[in-house]
Amino acid sequence: MTGRPRIVIRPACPSDHGGLRVLASELAYGPLLSRYGSDPHKLGDELCQLCTPPAGSATPTESLLVAVVDAQHHGPAAPAAAPPSSTPVTPAPAPLLGFARYAQSGMFGSLGGYLKLIAIAASHTGQGTGSRLLAAVEDAVRIHSRDLFLLASHFNDGAHRFYGRHGYQEVGRLPDYVRTEITELIFWKRLRPK
Ligand SMILES: CC(C)(COP(=O)(O)OP(=O)(O)OC[C@H]1O[C@@H](n2cnc3c(N)ncnc32)[C@H](O)[C@@H]1OP(=O)(O)O)[C@@H](O)C(=O)NCCC(=O)NCCS
Repeated sequence: MTGRPRIVIRPACPSDHGGLRVLASELAYGPLLSRYGSDPHKLGDELCQLCTPPAGSATPTESLLVAVVDAQHHGPAAPAAAPPSSTPVTPAPAPLLGFARYAQSGMFGSLGGYLKLIAIAASHTGQGTGSRLLAAVEDAVRIHSRDLFLLASHFNDGAHRFYGRHGYQEVGRLPDYVRTEITELIFWKRLRPK
């Protein structure tokens, strides 16, 4: 295998549980969510629940997309010893590099979707994966809603640049909304014409 691995963006599924819990833990103790007192187990549980779509025809209230290394480029798990040719080789779970959690509608009436959280593993930021995840969320939300909204903490300068570069405008502020002494900036993007 040569060059950079190919990254796939797809809906989360139960085989992502392990990777989601690892990333949830990294995030909960990281510079953003630690300021919210985030619980890694609770976040991991919430993300894992979103890997299983609701039964029947019920519309999910939230959805989860993940960015993973393409299984074909990732290859099989290395066996401890060379197996006999009849032994099946179990593929290792593809490394999970990031996720985006969103609601396709219901924000500010029926016209808005909501990006609840997008995150990339710290070892993988700045390589375009967050941009690809955000574009995939926009494509999914555009089917149901005209606009996409999100909140970003006042201190998260990197995220402000990220959203600004992708066409989001800051349209308001919510002081002490989630936590005291943290102001949430409301970002908005029109995804399609009226
Ligand atoms: C914000 C985030 C999702 C962007 O994903 P990404 O894969 O790093 O983004 P891309 O590679 O597509 O684009 C890079 C841009 O992201 C922004 N960015 C934000 N945090 C960054 C970080 N820790 N490292 C690198 N870029 C970051 C910058 O604007 C950067 O552009 P710049 O190099 O011109 O400054 C990601 O950095 C992340 O997970 N951050 C921590 C969690 C977070 O803040 N989520 C947003 C909550 S509102």
